[in-house]
Amino acid sequence: MTEAILLVGGKGTRLRPLTVNTPKPMVPAAGVPFLTHQLARARAAGVEHIVLATSYLAEVFEPYFGDGSAFGLSLEYVTEVEPLGTGGAIRNVADRLHSGPDDPVLIFNGDILTGLDIRALVATHQDSGADVSLHLTRVPDPRAFGLVPTDGTGRVTAFLEKPQTPEEIVTDQINAGAYVFRRSVIDTIPAGRPVSVERETFPGLLSAGAHLQGMVDSTYWLDLGTPMAFIRGSADLVLGRVPSPAVPGRRGDRLVLESASVAPDAKLTGGTVVCEGATVAPGARIDGSVILRGAVVEENAVISSSLVGSGARVGARTTLRETVIGDAAFVGPDNELRDGARVWCGARLPAASVRFSSDL
Ligand code: GTP
Repeated sequence: MTEAILLVGGKGTRLRPLTVNTPKPMVPAAGVPFLTHQLARARAAGVEHIVLATSYLAEVFEPYFGDGSAFGLSLEYVTEVEPLGTGGAIRNVADRLHSGPDDPVLIFNGDILTGLDIRALVATHQDSGADVSLHLTRVPDPRAFGLVPTDGTGRVTAFLEKPQTPEEIVTDQINAGAYVFRRSVIDTIPAGRPVSVERETFPGLLSAGAHLQGMVDSTYWLDLGTPMAFIRGSADLVLGRVPSPAVPGRRGDRLVLESASVAPDAKLTGGTVVCEGATVAPGARIDGSVILRGAVVEENAVISSSLVGSGARVGARTTLRETVIGDAAFVGPDNELRDGARVWCGARLPAASVRFSSDL
C-alpha cells in the first residue's frame, strides 16, 4: 500500500483559532506543525504518496511541506472551492490516486493524534476482504459520539447516531477517523456535492450489502478539537506516550528547541516544549505546556497545561493553568489565569489585573 488521503478541511477549520494566528493543522505540537506527525507516521507505515484534501488555500501547507520530498513523501494538494464534507473531499481527489481498483487506500482525519498501527489496519482490510475497514476506538463515555457496533468477526453491523438514552448505548466503540478504502469504492461516492462519510457513505454502503470491517485498536487516541486537547497531545508526543518519528529531539520531560533560552534553574516538566527563540527566565516552572516561538516567560512564572503564543510575554510570578495566551499578547506580572481562559492575540493585561484567590 503506498497511497493515502489526508482530510484537512471543513467549515470549522477554515477559521483560524482566535488566539493563535496559525491555522490549526500548522500549530506546532512537540515543536513541529501538527500535520508533520501524521505525515511522518504514515511514511513510517510505508505510505509514499499522500493527497491533502483541503478547503484551505494550499499556500498554508505548501510553503512548509512542499512536494514532500524532504519528508520522503510525494505530496499533492487539492483545494475545494466550498467544503465538500469528508466523503465529498475523498471523492474530489480520486483522480489523483495511482492505485488499481482493488488496491487499499488509507484515509485519515487531520485532527486526530493516534498511535494506531496503520499496517495492522491495512492487514485487517486485506485479510477480511472488506470494501472499507475502519479504525474503531473505545471510549469511557460514548454519549458524545456516533457508535459503531460490530459482530463477533469484527464486521460492522450499524452506524448509530449519538445515543440519546442509556438503552441506545449498545457499544463503546466509535469511529476513530482512519479508514482503508478499496480504491474502487471511492468512485461510488457522488461527485461535486457535499457528502459525509459517517452519515451518508458508510450507512449507504452497509444497506447495499457492502462489507465494512472494524478494527478495534485501543491504542493512544486523542481528538484535538479543543485547545486543551491540543496542549495535552503536544505534551504526550514529547513524553513519548504516542510515537511519532517527527518529534525533533529525544522523548522526555521537556523538549527545548534550538535557539530557545532556558535559565538553568527554571523547571520544565510533563512534556513541556519551548520553541525556537523563546526565553524562560530563572525560577519559572512550566508543566505540560507549549511555549511557542519567540515567547518570553519571566521570573518565577508558574505555567501548567497552557499554551503561550508566538511572541507573547508572561510576566513575573504570573500563574497560568489551562490557559491559552494569544500570539504577541502581554500578560503583566502577578496575574492568575486559569480554567480555559483565552487571551486574544496582541491583548495587554496590566500587572496584577486578574486573580482567582478566594479571599476578598
Ligand atoms: P462530515 O463527515 O463531512 O459531516 O464531516 P464532520 O464534520 O463529521 O467531520 P469532522 O469535523 O469530524 O472532520 C473530520 C476530518 O475531516 C477533519 O480532519 C476535518 O478537517 C476533515 N473535514 C471535514 N469536513 C471537510 C471538508 O469539507 N473538506 C475537507 N477537505 N476536509 C474536511
